[in-house]
Amino acid sequence: GVDKKILVIPGDGIGQEVTAWGQKVLATIAKNYNHTFHFDEGIMGHVAIEATGEPLPDSTLDKAKNSDAILFGAIGHAKYDNDPTLKVRPEQGLLKIRKELGLYANLRPIKLFDELLEASSIKPEILRGADILFFRELTGDVYFGEKKRTEDRNTASDLMIYHRYEVERIARKAYEAARTRRNKLCSVDKANVLEASRLWREVVQEISKDYPDVETEHMFIDNAAMQLIKDPKRFDVVLTGNLFGDILTDEASQIAGSMGMLASASVGDKVGFYEPIHGSAHDIAGKGIANPLASILSAALMLDISFGLKTESQRVIKAVEATLRQGYRTMDIANKHTENDFIMGTDAMGAKVLENLN
Ligand code: IPM
Ligand code: MN
Repeated sequence: GVDKKILVIPGDGIGQEVTAWGQKVLATIAKNYNHTFHFDEGIMGHVAIEATGEPLPDSTLDKAKNSDAILFGAIGHAKYDNDPTLKVRPEQGLLKIRKELGLYANLRPIKLFDELLEASSIKPEILRGADILFFRELTGDVYFGEKKRTEDRNTASDLMIYHRYEVERIARKAYEAARTRRNKLCSVDKANVLEASRLWREVVQEISKDYPDVETEHMFIDNAAMQLIKDPKRFDVVLTGNLFGDILTDEASQIAGSMGMLASASVGDKVGFYEPIHGSAHDIAGKGIANPLASILSAALMLDISFGLKTESQRVIKAVEATLRQGYRTMDIANKHTENDFIMGTDAMGAKVLENLN
């Protein structure tokens, strides 16, 4: 078996509740397949600000750099959302760890489990068979460009900036992935207006020449937002920048039924970072009703991408599928049209997945 160091960072809100289940699934896989996973824990976000004054303490960053993979929950707290003037914010922790670990490619697979066809607000015939893999650039763009505010506080700007090498490296990753799927890549930008997008498109066009077997399409972000809901099946790999990717993948979560279902993998230099795409959801935090499946599916992505354990990863996905087939649902994925579901909380749902793993 393999021997790996996993850092668990539950973070804030429902991150605490759901990440415990991602970790339990990893521990169960280790036991069943004779692997050794050493778990350590780190703090980040609002909990870290309260404890140390910083959203990402050096102790957590050091542990992160020395681990093989990281399982992360969520960060955020209502207090900051309602007070934009607060200078130290939970999100800074997440952005800093992405930058420090060189996690430039954020993979967000959007796949609808057949069992959840009725859970989405989109018509089943539009959704059936949709299977998209987003490559969201994660360490550039307007997220990391210079931020400014004039002295009189009345004018503000954020610089949207991309360098050629940043577009190149993620484009190559996305093309390689397209080759293992349906050989289609859609690059999303706003090249009709933005210079940073014109560079993006230019670079993707160049890289596309190395992948003549992959069909390349370029789409403007506004059109992409519409096409995604109108006909999600037309997409295979979608490649886009940090801000557009943030927005498009929340929209795409509706294709998978719920935000509570979507996992993501952030990769780049060395360490892999795995997290649900949902946030800390303070409105339901502490109630024990959050969906643990996104964290569990993030664990599955870790097994596959960071550790190369494809069989084990598939085993986790099958266990999730079996749980859904048995009719078990958290509130967010309850079937809107029938009453055949067993609606349960985070821990009961997590326990069902563990049962199906054994
Ligand atoms: C995400 C989140 C983050 C982002 C926030 C919390 C900074 O929305 O991972 O999608 O915008 O990248
Ligand atoms: Mn987001």
